[in-house]
Amino acid sequence: MLEELALLEQEIEKYHPTTTQELEDFRLKFISKKGIIADLFNKLAQLSSDEKRTLGNRLNIIKQRAQEKYKAEVIQLQTTTKKSIATTEDYTLPSPTDTLGTIHPISFLKTKIVEIFNKIGFNMVDGPEIEDDWHNFGALNFPANHPARDMLDTFFISQNPDILLRTHTSSVQIRIAESQKPPIRSISIGRVYRNETISARSHCMFHQVDGFYVNKNVSFAELKQVLSYFMSSLFGQNVKVRLRPSYFPFTEPSAEIDIDCRMCAGQGCNICKYTGWLEIMGAGMIDPNVLENCHIDPTVYTGYAFGMGLERVAMLLYQINDLRLFTENDIRFLKQFKAYT
Ligand code: DAH
Repeated sequence: MLEELALLEQEIEKYHPTTTQELEDFRLKFISKKGIIADLFNKLAQLSSDEKRTLGNRLNIIKQRAQEKYKAEVIQLQTTTKKSIATTEDYTLPSPTDTLGTIHPISFLKTKIVEIFNKIGFNMVDGPEIEDDWHNFGALNFPANHPARDMLDTFFISQNPDILLRTHTSSVQIRIAESQKPPIRSISIGRVYRNETISARSHCMFHQVDGFYVNKNVSFAELKQVLSYFMSSLFGQNVKVRLRPSYFPFTEPSAEIDIDCRMCAGQGCNICKYTGWLEIMGAGMIDPNVLENCHIDPTVYTGYAFGMGLERVAMLLYQINDLRLFTENDIRFLKQFKAYT
């Protein structure tokens, strides 16, 4: 019987099932209740107690080995089957549809503007969209009878006290200047509201960025340099920038900033009304009255400010011809901005 056991051991070691059927054959042949090992256990009963002990021990070891081998082969077979399924994938099939969203062009522009100004030390600040008359108009040196305060332009929420939807982000300049000490160098980006009829060229809600710097000896030359840096960072190094005298109640002197038309490269087209220039931004030196309204001494400090509409810039950068597209959430429009995500 000893010899029989040695042969059995060898046979078990040699056995390498490669299919589930072969594995089942192994189980039936060796470890099932009707298998060789069970049969040998039965035969032990006829032997002497000495033989029973030695052969029984050996047979137990063989049985354990056969069971372990069976378990290991089950795992081995499962992993090879998985692998072979994986290799049967068809790589020539079209890839699954990309269901990721895209970044809205205005959000993308916002991030870009913040990045550009961050590099030269402007921090980003926020202000409320629901404002009082003082922060939106009064402190910004708008005379009491200024037409911008008119019901036609402004959405008033209540009167006495006058609470309104801010008509520009310049209101944030006041909020920051009255609560901080110079030097202050901040930009603010957000929604503004005006009572206008919605069309391809105007909307009752749009976005603005406003920036300002207050310190000792701030000059108009600095303003000009910061704006050229900003324009070339946004539109490219070759952009031409021009300043024209203008008027805003909160800046003196004031300027309107133009860039050469991006559509026709300054040649003249219907977008730039055949002038070759596009008006992009308002700016100027902060009026001393505004500084005083924020409890900053205008004999010690000066400052500059600038403001710009985001939709107009996005329209130029991405050649969008209708302002309404920004708020309609038409997926066919939004999907075109994949490259910016
Ligand atoms: N607030 C102005 C507007 O809505 C834009 C503007 C012009 C902002 C000049 C400024 C500035 O800060 O200095 O039309």
